[in-house]
Amino acid sequence: MVRRSKTQNKGLPPGGRWIYKGNFVKLQRTHDCGTLRKADGGREVTLAGWVQSYRDHGGVVFVDMRDRGGLTQVVFHPEHSTAHALGRQLRTEDVVMVKGRVLERSAAAINPKMPTGEIEVLAEEVDIVNKSEATPFSPAQHDPVNEDVRLKYRYLDLRRRDMTEALMLRHRVTKIMRDYCDAHGFLEIETPILYKSTPEGAREFLVPSRLHPGEFYALPQSPQLFKQVLMAGGMDRYMQIARCFRDEDLRSDRQPEFTQLDLEMSFVDRREVMELITGLIVRLWREVLGIEIHIPFVHLTWQQAMDRFGIDRPDMRYGLELCDVSDAVAHADFAVFRDAVAAGGRVKMIAVPGGAALSRKQLEGLTDEAKRLGAKGLAWLKLGGEAGAGTMGGPIAKFLPPALQQTLREKTVARDGDILLAIADKQEIGWRVLGELRQVLARQLNLIPPDRHAFLWVTDFPSFEFDAASARYVAKHHPFTAPLDEDLPLLDSDPVKVRAKAYDIVLNGIEIGGGSIRIHQGQVQSKVFSILGISPEDAQKKFGFLLDALKYGAPPHGGIALGLDRLVMLMLNRSSIRDVIAFPKTQSGTDLMTEAPSVVESRQLQELSIAVIKPK
Ligand code: AMO
Ligand code: AMP
Repeated sequence: MVRRSKTQNKGLPPGGRWIYKGNFVKLQRTHDCGTLRKADGGREVTLAGWVQSYRDHGGVVFVDMRDRGGLTQVVFHPEHSTAHALGRQLRTEDVVMVKGRVLERSAAAINPKMPTGEIEVLAEEVDIVNKSEATPFSPAQHDPVNEDVRLKYRYLDLRRRDMTEALMLRHRVTKIMRDYCDAHGFLEIETPILYKSTPEGAREFLVPSRLHPGEFYALPQSPQLFKQVLMAGGMDRYMQIARCFRDEDLRSDRQPEFTQLDLEMSFVDRREVMELITGLIVRLWREVLGIEIHIPFVHLTWQQAMDRFGIDRPDMRYGLELCDVSDAVAHADFAVFRDAVAAGGRVKMIAVPGGAALSRKQLEGLTDEAKRLGAKGLAWLKLGGEAGAGTMGGPIAKFLPPALQQTLREKTVARDGDILLAIADKQEIGWRVLGELRQVLARQLNLIPPDRHAFLWVTDFPSFEFDAASARYVAKHHPFTAPLDEDLPLLDSDPVKVRAKAYDIVLNGIEIGGGSIRIHQGQVQSKVFSILGISPEDAQKKFGFLLDALKYGAPPHGGIALGLDRLVMLMLNRSSIRDVIAFPKTQSGTDLMTEAPSVVESRQLQELSIAVIKPK
């Protein structure tokens, strides 16, 4: 580490240079490795960075020097003999400082792929600051490196251009978020990480308390309750780039700790929150990506999203919409369809453009996928196949008379060359299976246009879902979400029909944010708790502080949280959020670099009054 002690500081001229000896840096950097251009020709510069690549052309040595800013070619010429001798000792990932002159490259030597490709730096003075041992992989390498290796040696991985760019973009995004919120009157306020256990939603991480043996803090799944209390505290508008912790099964877009742009506003309705976030997204895409996105965003109610796409976060970059044909086929000769409708189920179809070309094997693959997702089977009809234009083919075509075939064509807007895929089952299963197959097919058939940013707001979610496993209602968003005013009477009569003042924002089929207007009246909150089977005593124990806050004059309020990791992943077109987080965890929740989680000393456990029961 470079130390600049107080005594060293004395006697330096203002703006003076640090001249270090021995272990210390001798040269002072003037530019980063990505900035020099043709116009800098002739300048005396000093670069600092890593050796990305090394070529010895019998005499002249070429080194690509890398730092966060980019790459610059440095030339070590025998005419500067000391520099040249040091240059010849350089190997990849050595840390080096080079002072020299910027030379314009000859036309033939220009590298149009490098932003600095029109120049090179002729080394005159060289300081090999730190030699590197041979690295487990090269940050310059373009071939894929096993992710476990990348995570173990994350510092090497972070030197890769992809990672450097991801973290630079992430910084820009959070900076703009803060500026935008500041301009809109938000205060950035931190909320506790050591929090109270309120098991609701995802499983939480617990932290034992030393001072209160046998008691635990929990890490917050989100700052939800604190931000509501901040509104009761008159803070009016709160924002935070907030860390959240959820002990859930991980996927490529889920981490056990992740970051949200979390915000909450007083005296607002849904429209204001959604407009604010839309404005932020427009600004991020414009300023960070240079893309002008179209507003207003598409807006669907939850019911519309489910009916058309079978999923509450539809990918709208392509069609393949679901079509409910239950009424048309209710009396058909095909028992699978008829019986399903008679049993209160639905028959749903999707028309796949060009799908008549799908092979038997591909159809079997789709059927297997459908069954894996819970369907009993997958029926299909090929349009205009062997039997000629205007016909339908496939095992079930014979059960459907020509008039019905014509009706199905019209309803699904399918044409010769297409295939109709059908699921006859309970509504939820039809949604789930076709909603999923829609995505599989879009990928298989290359129906996803690149470079599309399909934003969408989904609103009016059901407030409650019936959870068959626990035989009780659970909150779809969270228990603090306000019902639509017109649905308040349904709280007593028909809770599953109650819709919430909730909204999600979706981009290309991924939920990037969600929020709601909250309940600000104690009576409504108590009623919602009772539907959720939370007794008044339990509610008081878990959320008493919030209920009290609502009693003492809480303003109407609402908010939202954007998943920062997911947003940045999508902005960069990456397929995993691990690629936009400096130190992510693996699918099994471990940090391969620090090797967390780890066993702790028994002394530590004793202090915490904890005994470990070895899992069987
Ligand atoms: P919600 O639970 O919908 O809402 O979370 C908001 C957004 O956070 C992102 N997200 C995640 N990102 C990475 N890894 C995870 N495990 C993960 N879980 C969620 C998603 C999601 O849309 N307190 C409420 C917000 C509110 O009501 O204001 C909340 O946390 O992009
Ligand atoms: P079966 O009468 O069971 O031989 O089924 C005839 C065709 O209908 C097969 O292609 C099955 O995969 C399909 N099928 C069976 N059950 C369903 C269902 N619930 N929804 C859609 N198709 C089904």
